Amino acid sequence: KDTLTVLGLESSCDDTAAAVVRGREILSSVVADQTALHEAFGGVVPEIAARAHAEKLDHCVEGALGQSGLSLADIDIIAVTAGPGLIGGVLSGVMLAKGLSAATGKPLVGVNHLAGHALTPRLTDGLAYPFLILLVSGGHCQFLRVDGPTEFKKLGSTIDDAPGEAFDKTARLLGLPQPGGPSVEKHARSGDETRFTFPRPLLDRPGCDVSFSGLKTALLRQRDQLVADQGGLYDQDVDDLCAGFQASVRDVLVEKSRRALAESPGISGFAVAGGVAANGVLRAALETLCADQDVRFVAPPLALCTDNAAMIAFAGAEQYTERGADDLTLVARPRWPL
Ligand code: KG4
Ligand code: ZN
Repeated sequence: KDTLTVLGLESSCDDTAAAVVRGREILSSVVADQTALHEAFGGVVPEIAARAHAEKLDHCVEGALGQSGLSLADIDIIAVTAGPGLIGGVLSGVMLAKGLSAATGKPLVGVNHLAGHALTPRLTDGLAYPFLILLVSGGHCQFLRVDGPTEFKKLGSTIDDAPGEAFDKTARLLGLPQPGGPSVEKHARSGDETRFTFPRPLLDRPGCDVSFSGLKTALLRQRDQLVADQGGLYDQDVDDLCAGFQASVRDVLVEKSRRALAESPGISGFAVAGGVAANGVLRAALETLCADQDVRFVAPPLALCTDNAAMIAFAGAEQYTERGADDLTLVARPRWPL
């Protein structure tokens, strides 16, 4: 049989997810998010996350199978996120996948969560190897050249905060609602990005590493100066600060993307994924860069850029074809660099 039908499981952070994927076709994708459970604590609480995953995984699997119209007997392989992530959640997923594999005799494939994100442009747009991807979310920021299902070359990454984190902190410092990305983008629309000076961290250094923690310090300084001078912040100040901050993130990511492209001759395209890829200003600037360089630009739909199990199922199929299955000694790994 040439097209594999895969059941995928994902439980490495605060989303519990299951999906059924056949080739590049997503037959079902169920995501149960835990936002409401963690809200009161101001962040993801590992114990709560682990218990919720354990409780919801079965239900998600039933939902994904039900929506696909298939039963376990129709599934060819079982793919599961085996790390990196919160160990309790990863363990729940790996144990369930092992149980299903042992009970049905179907091959088991442990997938790196980041590989799932990195291979998504193949699922959504059929990008051929090798391609370049910029993963930008609340948790990571990396430039990866993807040479094959298990071959990743990291060209650069953040040396401190992820860009989504920087957006969230900026919103917090300006009293705007979370998640910060969309709030900051909205205010920036009526702001003047040139009024305040923000640094462009690491642009003076070679390579594709980025840094965002200095932006927060710059923002804090400008905000406190305004408060000292005029006793508070006017709406226009907030808009201008948002615009200045966002322009800095955009400029840094665009310049480092230019370098990553220069280091990657022969790629089939440049993809951007992760929650921050929803940012219209960043997206437009990357699109322009790619048009200038004659490189195909791909931005998968947001639902497939954020955590989901369809990407794990797809990556599982690609990796299974290349390296075969794992056995029941598969371990859950809290840390697992690509
Ligand atoms: O990939 P994602 O959904 O999940 C995690 O990394 O956990 O990314 C979430 C991040 C948040 O920090 C959020 O503020 C940011 O993506 N984000 C944005 C925008 N929409 C979401 N950042 C900038 N502009 C946006 N429009
Ligand atoms: Zn993720």
